[in-house]
Amino acid sequence: MKTPLLFGFMLAVSSLGAAAENSGMPPLPPHQMRLEVPDGDRTQSPASGEQLFSNACGYCHLTFGMGTNVLMGRRMAMGLPPQTALLANRTDLTADYIAMVVRSGQGDMPRITRVDLTDSELALVAEYLTRNNP
Ligand code: HEC
Repeated sequence: MKTPLLFGFMLAVSSLGAAAENSGMPPLPPHQMRLEVPDGDRTQSPASGEQLFSNACGYCHLTFGMGTNVLMGRRMAMGLPPQTALLANRTDLTADYIAMVVRSGQGDMPRITRVDLTDSELALVAEYLTRNNP
């Protein structure tokens, strides 16, 4: 007797989910809208630095991400403009510093291993984040 009940319940829940998808739910916040990274050899990544940054770092470092929030508070307390809380807007980060923070972690940022982001992917991310450096 229990099985049909459970099945009916699951059906109801899954159709609720489908209804929510089509019913004008509010869009996801920016930090949950990560860019996808194309498949391929991750030691010679076909992805761009921007895609890789969005994918590997975006859930913390895009708008409303936890890292953006942490850096926003700190930078505003230092009198720096709030838009510099977004790493993509910075012009003072060096590739070496980025690599050190990524591989060692810092404060509330966990270190990111070569499994999650290969060295060549990290190089592309660093190239993207330093693209506007003077
Ligand atoms: C789980 C969340 C999270 C992820 C994922 C993450 N970060 Fe961070 N990041 C943070 C937080 C939080 C800080 C602030 C750390 C602190 O307390 O100093 C930070 C700080 C940094 C800083 C130092 C900024 C400064 O002003 O000194 C750099 C550079 C950085 N992250 C790069 C990256 C890159 C590149 C990636 C992706 C490969 C990444 N982070 C992924 C949370 C994250």
